[in-house]
Amino acid sequence: MIIQILRTPYTTALHKRIRGQCSSCLRLRWRLCARCSGTQMWRIRPCYRSYAMSSVKLDGAGAGAVEANSKPTGPLMKNLESIAPLVQSAAETPEPISTQVQGIIPTWINGKFLRNGPGKFEFGNTHYNHWFDGMALLHQFRIEHGRVTYMSRFLRSDAYKKNSERNRIMISEFGTLAMPDPCKSLFQRFLSRFEVMDVTDNASVSFVKYKGDYYVSTETNFMHKVNPENLETLDKVDWSKFIAVNGATAHPHYEPDGTTYNMGNSYGNKGALYNIIKVPPEKAEAKDTLQGASILCSIVPAKKSHPSYYHSFAMSENYVVFIEQPIKMDLLKIVTSKLRGRALGEGVYWDPTQETVLHLADKRTGEVSAVKYHTAPLSTFHQINAFEEDGLLMVDMCCSDDGRAIGNYLIQNLRRSGHALDEVYNAGCRAFPRRFVLPLRVTDETPAGQNLNTRSASGATCVKVGKNKVFCQHEDLHGDDLHDYGGLEFPQINYSKHNTRSYRYFYGCGFRHLVGDSLLKMDLRDKTLKVWYQRGFYPSEPVFVASPDAVEEDDGVILSVVLTPSQDKGTFLLVLEAKTMEELGRANVPVNIPYGFHGAFNPS
Ligand SMILES: [Fe+2]
Repeated sequence: MIIQILRTPYTTALHKRIRGQCSSCLRLRWRLCARCSGTQMWRIRPCYRSYAMSSVKLDGAGAGAVEANSKPTGPLMKNLESIAPLVQSAAETPEPISTQVQGIIPTWINGKFLRNGPGKFEFGNTHYNHWFDGMALLHQFRIEHGRVTYMSRFLRSDAYKKNSERNRIMISEFGTLAMPDPCKSLFQRFLSRFEVMDVTDNASVSFVKYKGDYYVSTETNFMHKVNPENLETLDKVDWSKFIAVNGATAHPHYEPDGTTYNMGNSYGNKGALYNIIKVPPEKAEAKDTLQGASILCSIVPAKKSHPSYYHSFAMSENYVVFIEQPIKMDLLKIVTSKLRGRALGEGVYWDPTQETVLHLADKRTGEVSAVKYHTAPLSTFHQINAFEEDGLLMVDMCCSDDGRAIGNYLIQNLRRSGHALDEVYNAGCRAFPRRFVLPLRVTDETPAGQNLNTRSASGATCVKVGKNKVFCQHEDLHGDDLHDYGGLEFPQINYSKHNTRSYRYFYGCGFRHLVGDSLLKMDLRDKTLKVWYQRGFYPSEPVFVASPDAVEEDDGVILSVVLTPSQDKGTFLLVLEAKTMEELGRANVPVNIPYGFHGAFNPS
């Protein structure tokens, strides 16, 4: 199926939209053109309405179909291997077990590599629909003197405990609506639709640190403090008890002294606000959790009833950078989801008619810059780094030209095989690392219509197009070869030394599958890649651990958990030399582990 360009009736200074007709369903479709969103726009295949499968349904029966994204990039894949075993429920391993080490794990690595991700996808006869819904399974790889032990425990969240007690899904998650208890009468079940929906505390996304303690986090108002020694679930912490927010991201940023910044929305009578949160570095008392947390400032959404969804944000030396992307949340739909019998996730949608807007907040004063930095519609889940030089702010992030990826990550999609799996992958849009350059001193005297990026080596542009409005065009932080690896996501850097500072290297997963299938290292000096790849092996987010005598930025190792769907118990912890991306050693784990999201290294 080919989109045929009919005419180009609508043009602005910033972008052009093209009306095309899908040759299958013959509907006229609006698409953003290459001028504002890259050069491969017309590599679209099907119009999503004519796509072979039906549209996304995140709730209950019938869930699992895929909606084609508008801009696939990278190679089209055929005969993808089924990764269904990587998204199956696993048993916990509550006591440490030995692993078999091959090669050499450097003896200077001493600590616990902590990982988080979904590990249970059903209770009784009820099943979760979306990958994000699975119950948090916490993993610990304890590395000491060249040896590794492994253990895992399910987070004892209230959601996990209630579901386990009743052996059915009792708490709704992002893509799954908990259905009324069948033991209730018909009338009671009807009335239950009008009850307030319980907010999940299933913190399955990441390990984060506040005041030196480890927490596991999702994006609701609940986190859990966890003992990193034995993965025991400790305090359940509610952000809203400390500050007026209804949640916080699972990706805070840290200052060297331990001060932590995060972002969270608040929802009041007048709509939503984006809030920047600051948590002090130290406890006043031993039992402290988020005491002393404060809202540094708030940012008003472009449309208060439809704020943007955001998974993370960037931070430079002096600024918090908030990216207001056109993945929107229809608050009315979300609030009424239970009443309507729909999953929460159905209230999240991609609106490519809206530009992406970057907001700056001064970390010292809380002042939100009046200057707004616009760019083409994009979606971003993870930022790489942000730093300031010569009056410019560089914001590096993994970006996709389509914001419907969340809808593709239904469990049924991940468990597909054969042609159906290829279709899911090929309909998706890959993410690529990009740099945006933001001029920090924009005043009424700043000339309009000229590129304010004074870095001669950078291809990014930033042009004042109106009062307090700058339009930015990104620079690709990669060469053409990254397309062959399916783009890059799960970016990581030498965070402790280089976050908020100039840097040379970042690491990530290549995505020639729905999960990472290679480990990549990008050298920003010449945009060259180093790659670890073994066919049939699927590595998780690479975490950089600096060596104790590190001098250069990449002196250290990369840790990644690698899964193998074709082998039972084919999991291992991989240790790469960061400089070369060559394998130093691996620790074979004699149990199966599902594919996870994020981790952290807790040095001994
Ligand atoms: Fe994330």
